[in-house]
Amino acid sequence: MDRFDINGGRRLAGRLTVKGSKNAALPMLAAALLTDQPVTLTDVPELADIANMRRLLTELGCEAQAVPAADPESPGGAVRLHARDQSRCHARYDIVRTMRASVCVLGPMLALRGQARVSLPGGCAIGERPVDIHLRGLAALGADIVLDQGDIVARVPRAHQKRGRLRGARVFLGGPFGSTVLGTANVMSAATLAEGTTVIESAACEPEIVDLANLLNAMGARVSGQGSPRIVVQGVAELGGADHRVIPDRIEAGTYMCAAAITGGDVTLDNCPVDALMALADRLQEMGLTLRFDPGQDAMRTSCRVTAPAPGSLRPVEVATQPHPGFPTDLQAQLLAVLCLADGNSVITERIFTERFLHVAELSRMGARLYRQGPTVIVSGVRELVGAPVMASDLRASACLVLAGLAARGTTTVNRVYHLDRGYERMEQRLISLGADVTRLSAKDPEPAPQNAGQ
Ligand code: EPU
Repeated sequence: MDRFDINGGRRLAGRLTVKGSKNAALPMLAAALLTDQPVTLTDVPELADIANMRRLLTELGCEAQAVPAADPESPGGAVRLHARDQSRCHARYDIVRTMRASVCVLGPMLALRGQARVSLPGGCAIGERPVDIHLRGLAALGADIVLDQGDIVARVPRAHQKRGRLRGARVFLGGPFGSTVLGTANVMSAATLAEGTTVIESAACEPEIVDLANLLNAMGARVSGQGSPRIVVQGVAELGGADHRVIPDRIEAGTYMCAAAITGGDVTLDNCPVDALMALADRLQEMGLTLRFDPGQDAMRTSCRVTAPAPGSLRPVEVATQPHPGFPTDLQAQLLAVLCLADGNSVITERIFTERFLHVAELSRMGARLYRQGPTVIVSGVRELVGAPVMASDLRASACLVLAGLAARGTTTVNRVYHLDRGYERMEQRLISLGADVTRLSAKDPEPAPQNAGQ
């Protein structure tokens, strides 16, 4: 298992191009199962999760050929998809357990093939993560759904469906923590081929859902209202092929903004989806950072210069995660790392995944002063963090530990960076290009000698 050794204390400065969005690309790859025509996605980041989804699609009879980017600094490569074989409908546990987003194949397969068998994703490091709302939504469209040996088995009942299709309905996707992003992706995708009109109430408003709806429309679907809590889908008889460029990754962009913030840096992000990052921008400005971007450019693909005040002078803030356009849960850990070094007490409340705090204990090992009570963490700013060996537990917690390492005195070793590779393309090289001192070491490289051993 690879690890990062980070020698902290370097100010980051320079320019990066934001990669294509992982969380937009994953359901869009699955949407290729809605047609027997070719679909090509561009600006797809080269990540472990994308490779896993391609593997799953291949097992489901959909060719998924990656064409790497000629320039590694570009937003990403292309993936050419073509679902020629409609007979294989089983998403096996072996793949689903490695990536929860595999559940995105459920809606598309059910809609076109009339059946799907998808292993029920288990919990993960950030919490329980049920899929009950996905299933409730698909059942409202007429699917028969049962659980069999840990698999979700969904079918369109032949008796009352014309041509084995789902039927449009009014579907409510609200849950105890707001809507569901992948649940909205599943139901919206399935509804494109249903008989009649579907109205999704309490739909997720995330930019990744807007991008998926835009792809579906390019394939011939009739989706409107995307980006609002009410999405209307008028079912069509079939979908065709399309070429589509994936939006930039707002979470990757936000993570590098936090990297600038924690190192007192000055970083310009090209292809930056500022429009999707207003909640983070608001908090960073409150903390004393300056964000400059050209209002004349497309606000989803603009250049944004992020300039941080000198270390020690960041102001503390309060923040609560919320569904979009609120502050994203996927940036909670990274902002928490930055607030460890603010001048005063901050409060962070996690309202989407209330247990998503595995980074708290690791940051404490680096000298952070954190007090957690339930979904809230009080962060008492300290003057410095101190390097330590730490353990990455999930994707965003890993990013948080890397950020802490960039600012800490001495060396931080972040173990298990395979979590990072799921969502950040070549993160260490991108940080090095901004002036960071980060080395990726593989399992065969020796551990550093323990300091002060035996004393
Ligand atoms: N929920 C339910 N029942 C459901 C579905 C969700 O109770 O059937 C709950 C969840 O437990 C959670 C809340 O609803 O408390 C929101 O979960 P959601 O379904 O929106 O999450 P998701 O769609 O499974 C996506 C992203 C996550 C991101 C969340 C929230 C992808 C591949 N994943 O997950 O991204 O945190 O939305 O914005 O798009 C990440 O990239 O690190 C990541 C975890």
